[in-house]
Amino acid sequence: MSKNKVSIIGAGNVGATATYYIAEKVIADLVMVDIAGGMTQAKAVDFLHAGPLRGYDVSISIVGTSDFAQIADSNVVVITAGLPRKPGMDRMDLLKVNAGIVKQAARAIVEHAPNAIVIVVSNPLDIMCHVALRSTGFDLRHVVGMAGILDSTRFRYFVAEQLGCALSSVHAMVLGGHGDQMVPLPRLTTVSGVPITELLDGPTIARLVDRTRKGGAEIVSLLKTGSAYYAPAASVADMVEAVITDRKHLAPCAAYLRGEYGIDDLFIGVPVILGKNGVERIIELQLQEDERALLRASADAVRKGVDELNTFFKPT
Ligand code: NAI
Ligand code: 2OP
Repeated sequence: MSKNKVSIIGAGNVGATATYYIAEKVIADLVMVDIAGGMTQAKAVDFLHAGPLRGYDVSISIVGTSDFAQIADSNVVVITAGLPRKPGMDRMDLLKVNAGIVKQAARAIVEHAPNAIVIVVSNPLDIMCHVALRSTGFDLRHVVGMAGILDSTRFRYFVAEQLGCALSSVHAMVLGGHGDQMVPLPRLTTVSGVPITELLDGPTIARLVDRTRKGGAEIVSLLKTGSAYYAPAASVADMVEAVITDRKHLAPCAAYLRGEYGIDDLFIGVPVILGKNGVERIIELQLQEDERALLRASADAVRKGVDELNTFFKPT
């Protein structure tokens, strides 16, 4: 059996941390690619030195490079290359510069790893998924964005903290675009199967929903030099594992919709089944009217971003 290979384009905070978390799962050889070559090589060697203590072995290789050809034949390629936001910036402020960077990464994937499942992370996330899809020309289900798992894990944490219960007992569902109008769904957020609407009062839930929407901004304002990366990297590693191990994981991810949820021609966060073929199925939930309205508003905000992208972007 040939070995699995995962490449991460962009070895900054998110890319390098994700590489480290994936290494600990011992499921694939790893390649990190970044225009900052020496730094990338240094991080890869440092990860290898940690192997004896962190549970991975010489059975997997970890390479850091600035040579895009080294992603050849990857099963999965993660795009984390691009600028992160700083205090005072919205994710949309990154649109122009990151579109160019993601396009360059996408072209390298077409050339060297044409059968890969592509996981997009760079912001503004939902719009960068469009850039990656158009620049690769890949199957719609082979390009997927990471955001819903991150937004949901933040919501899970806030709920567990509020109730003083085990993190692992809490499951959450956050749909929509990765922006201020994301749609946390309290009705479908549960503690060991019990919806939080049975456990917490309305104002408390509203406060946790608001904190989830502002979870990324909270870190940016504390960090000042960039944005969150530990929880984002853990979310990336979860998605990579689902694809590499064909886990058929049901989780919210940015997927390209063609009429599902009444939304067409747009990447947006919805529950999907993630497996070796990428987005293997889109799960269409029966949303209540207020939830549907919030999702529509979130989709409208993403659509505006795509319209702005269309004013300057050429896929090839
Ligand atoms: P960072 O600044 O630490 O790392 C970005 C890396 O990209 C740098 O090492 C840079 O050298 C590299 N890079 C730039 N142009 C490149 C190119 N053409 N080819 C290869 N590498 C290139 O930023 P960080 O914190 O790792 O964030 C990366 C991106 O991920 C940002 O756009 C950020 O907003 C986004 N992000 C998205 C999240 C999500 O939920 N979707 C969560 C967290 C971050
Ligand atoms: C976050 O939500 C920066 O989008 C990133 O932390």
